[in-house]
Amino acid sequence: MLVLGIETSCDETAVAIVKDGKAVLANVVYSQIDIHKEYGGVVPEVASRNHARKITLVLEEAFRKAKKSLSDIDLVAVTHHPGLIGSLLVGINGAKALSMAYNIPYVEVNHIHGHIYANYLEDDFRFPLLALVVSGGHTELVLMRQHLDFYLLGQTLDDAVGETYDKVGRVLGLDYPAGPALDKLALSGEINYNLPLIYLDKDKYHFSFSGLKTAVLNLVNTKKMQNEAISFTDLAASFQNSVIRVLVDKTVAAAKEFKVKQVVVAGGVAANRGLRSAMKNEVSKLNDVVLTFPSLYYCTDNAAMIAVAGYFQYNTK
Ligand code: KG4
Ligand code: ZN
Repeated sequence: MLVLGIETSCDETAVAIVKDGKAVLANVVYSQIDIHKEYGGVVPEVASRNHARKITLVLEEAFRKAKKSLSDIDLVAVTHHPGLIGSLLVGINGAKALSMAYNIPYVEVNHIHGHIYANYLEDDFRFPLLALVVSGGHTELVLMRQHLDFYLLGQTLDDAVGETYDKVGRVLGLDYPAGPALDKLALSGEINYNLPLIYLDKDKYHFSFSGLKTAVLNLVNTKKMQNEAISFTDLAASFQNSVIRVLVDKTVAAAKEFKVKQVVVAGGVAANRGLRSAMKNEVSKLNDVVLTFPSLYYCTDNAAMIAVAGYFQYNTK
């Protein structure tokens, strides 16, 4: 079964063609990052206009790469929520137009479910499965007892992890999105700054990152006022430590409580090297639990993950 995936929820115009939920024949991502960089974040109106300009070109490139045509496609899957409404509409209208004109079945996919299903490209799923979703807009722990059964155990009460990376990076003068640059800085730094680890004892599986963000801001401002130098590498390492320890500790606690057989990490922050190695260390101590991360290019927004989730939606009764 050949699925055409379309993703335009934020600032990536993406189209993929995936066979049987596993084999990616084409995965084309046009990123608008360079356009939004100068504003320090995504400007919704600018994003929708660029999706409209690029969507047909990205579609054509995907078909060229996969050496397929529209008559080969069995299903169109498109991201319908959550995301920027103007951006989502470009993908949805494109997908509906193709579905109607070529008489191809059509399914709408939740973007977060797509991120989780990016892991299926690496490993089959073993249930119960625990997903840690860490993206620019979301931070969630999701328990799955079977395919497409998503039970939300907890989520951030304020900022998402990726958003926190981007805001902290901005304070340090890094370009948007700052996650990859902070990750790189952290690798050569030491945990020398005292930053809070926010566990929210009463809300076992919820998260909060705005206090950590404020703590970094206050530290930078205080050092500036006192004319003291800041080590960017040490600050990045200390910040990353506060994020990762909480993410890993809560994931491991949930994995134990719900006796899961697999832990998957999803979303842009799943590319973080510190998170990958800390999670590997801790999950390897659990008995018979498989740990899966998407390949780096399937961590951030892409349409292959939407095609995989769409494949399951269409085939699961
Ligand atoms: O999943 P994604 O592409 O978009 C959303 O659905 O939100 O995630 C983008 C986020 C950005 O905030 C970016 O800074 C973060 O993922 N990110 C990282 C890394 N790579 C991307 N954060 C930390 N470390 C990274 N290596
Ligand atoms: Zn995303």
